[in-house]
Amino acid sequence: EKEPMKVLVTGVAGMLAQPDSLFGQIGYAIAPMIARGIMLGPNQPMILHLLDIAPATEALNGVKMELPDAAFPLLKEVHATTDITETCKDVNIAIMLGGFPRKEGMERKDMMSKNVPIYKEQASALEEHAASDCKVLVVANPANTNALILKEFAPSIPEKNITCLTRLDHNRALSQIAERIKVYVTDVKNVIIWGNHSSTQYPEANHATVTSINGERPVKELDTDDLWLKNEFINTVQQRGTAIIKARKASSVLSAASAPCDHMLDWVLGTPKGIWLSMGAYFDGSYGIPKDIIYSFPVKCEKGKWSIVKGLKIDEFSRAKMDAIAKDLIDEKEVAHSCLN
Ligand code: NAI
Repeated sequence: EKEPMKVLVTGVAGMLAQPDSLFGQIGYAIAPMIARGIMLGPNQPMILHLLDIAPATEALNGVKMELPDAAFPLLKEVHATTDITETCKDVNIAIMLGGFPRKEGMERKDMMSKNVPIYKEQASALEEHAASDCKVLVVANPANTNALILKEFAPSIPEKNITCLTRLDHNRALSQIAERIKVYVTDVKNVIIWGNHSSTQYPEANHATVTSINGERPVKELDTDDLWLKNEFINTVQQRGTAIIKARKASSVLSAASAPCDHMLDWVLGTPKGIWLSMGAYFDGSYGIPKDIIYSFPVKCEKGKWSIVKGLKIDEFSRAKMDAIAKDLIDEKEVAHSCLN
């Protein structure tokens, strides 16, 4: 049997202490998925390290009791704590859900001034105590900027190992196209989420294809209504989280817990041939986007490493959107740095 991997999940208690919260519980939903092998594959045993803050201690203990009760064969140990140093010890994988959500009426800057110091502190703890090749996925919002702060304060973790989640948006884009063209989601591939995980992200299907009994064809050929791809498709994907909050009176949890599992599984075990996925990572300046931000782009993964899909043709419509997002992220980086002073 393989050596167990140590998997840290922060923010795992899911605000159970605040029953009126619209947010919640991605951690509670994702922990059993990880323990069942959905994130790291069916042959990889693991030790879970669960972190939350002091007010959530009781809820955290509840999760710690429940996980062993499920008798997951792959789950060897569960450690739950509110101590950041202890929880980071030798972790191979870190799933960062912890943070403060933006409440109604709260300015983005106020939300950032709460989250940026958290990511600075947690970065330092990972820097000091995590395995040197730890793979990090930041889910908590603002995901790109939290990941950037984490990268800045954990300089010895390889920069390519620090990523943020745009896979949920990617999956939503696949599902919108499948519904529109009336095929299964597995028949659609190679959409892209450019930029950030926020309502200004740019979901793009110019290079996406659909495979059917007639072979593989570009989505653009099958859906000749260019207006749909340029308007409704983009808006629906951008606004999906809000639509779900409206319908459920709570945020998306099931899909938001599933996407990090996809992200990690593909990263660790590799993407199938000819398929790419979207991931936010430290940008290398490809496609004329400024460097030094965490930006989402199409990647392929092999043997635990991602590489950017290069050479895609970018039309004028895409160019404008991609540049606007880069500008947003550069502005947000400045706001984040101002929160540290
Ligand atoms: P939540 O607010 O229910 O859970 C956050 C948890 O973090 C709570 O248990 C809280 O006690 C904990 N926490 C706060 N400060 C912490 C700290 N310093 N250390 C450890 N834990 C801490 O939120 P939910 O719904 O579970 O979402 C988690 C995050 O993921 C949110 O920031 C949300 O905006 C974000 N999100 C991102 C998505 C993406 O696609 N990138 C999709 C959906 C949610």
